[in-house]
Amino acid sequence: MIRGDGPARIPPPHLVLADLAADIEREHRLAIASACDAVAHAIAAGRLLLQAKRQIGHGGWLPWLAAKCPSVSIRSAQVYMRLAECAPSLTGPNTQRAAYFSLRAALRVIAQHRSAPALSTQEPFLNGHARHGAIHIHHGDCRALLPKLRRDGDIIVSDVPYNVGISYDGYNDCLPSDEYAGLIRAACQPPCVIISYPELMFRIAMIIGMEPSRAVAWVYHANTPRQWRLICWFGVEPDFARLRQPYRNPTDARVQELIANGSEGAASYDWWLIEQTKNVSAEKTCHLAQTPVEVMRRILMVTPALRYVDPFCGSGSLLVAAKELCRAAIGIEQSSAYCQIARQRLSAMPA
Ligand SMILES: C[S@@+](CC[C@H](N)C(=O)[O-])C[C@H]1O[C@@H](n2cnc3c(N)ncnc32)[C@H](O)[C@@H]1O
Repeated sequence: MIRGDGPARIPPPHLVLADLAADIEREHRLAIASACDAVAHAIAAGRLLLQAKRQIGHGGWLPWLAAKCPSVSIRSAQVYMRLAECAPSLTGPNTQRAAYFSLRAALRVIAQHRSAPALSTQEPFLNGHARHGAIHIHHGDCRALLPKLRRDGDIIVSDVPYNVGISYDGYNDCLPSDEYAGLIRAACQPPCVIISYPELMFRIAMIIGMEPSRAVAWVYHANTPRQWRLICWFGVEPDFARLRQPYRNPTDARVQELIANGSEGAASYDWWLIEQTKNVSAEKTCHLAQTPVEVMRRILMVTPALRYVDPFCGSGSLLVAAKELCRAAIGIEQSSAYCQIARQRLSAMPA
């Protein structure tokens, strides 16, 4: 969600229609009156409109809008709802707040994200490249491809090879120390968010020559003594307020007041309990080191960027999370089999 200096209040989902109409009218007036906050208010209006539309159902929507929100035209309502649906794609380092966008610029971003049709999984990669809307998959070695593909505003997000001898298709996960350092140096230039074993993260920090700005422990239950990994942010600050979780003491009077005032939960803690992708998981593919989509989803939610780049994208979990959140992303993978898996996962998602 988008937060600004004067963020519009996000209502709880149980507002009655009369309240929704009043709130929609207010947000519409604010969107017009305040040039600076126009997009933030337009998004808030869009969220309210989507709620109202869901409650009213097919057939009654347009008459309700005309009767209850007379100053909001159908066209404005459609624009607001489109903005609300794609709000995550409007944030990034150069666009810290949707408030900095003009409505027209915001709509242009959304159009870019939606312009390219998804390719069928049957089509071959064209010159080692496939595209699904704002998501690109490149087949090849990230050391050769990254210099050509990386742009200002991109943030690397990657679960890197751990160099522990995992059996990957076509890649030796047991490189001599120097070669491994060269691979990490080439692929993980800040700003970047790296997932790895805690001990290896010290080495990665030395290789890329920077201390992390923040760290989160990703914990999980496993049959082995190793039950957590480290996620580190280098050269970029995560915003944990963007990721809300249920309050631990919902009966506490102060917490109840926060909830009554529209708070959607506590800011994220610095440890995330997310189970590994197991054979029984619905998202499991044949990739032996598949990252759970939920890990990638949370990283993206707290790390605004114009575009995300995973130089070791494997089965494409980063790309799946990016597509879900309407963000732009590219993945690079040396195995064509894994590229195809990533592509199938993207194709299976709604456009
Ligand atoms: C830890 S796995 C990434 C898993 C991925 N996050 C997923 O969800 O499936 C590392 C991946 O890096 C790939 N890889 C290793 N060296 C590479 C290189 N030089 N260029 C591109 N991909 C590479 C491996 O084939 C492997 O799929």
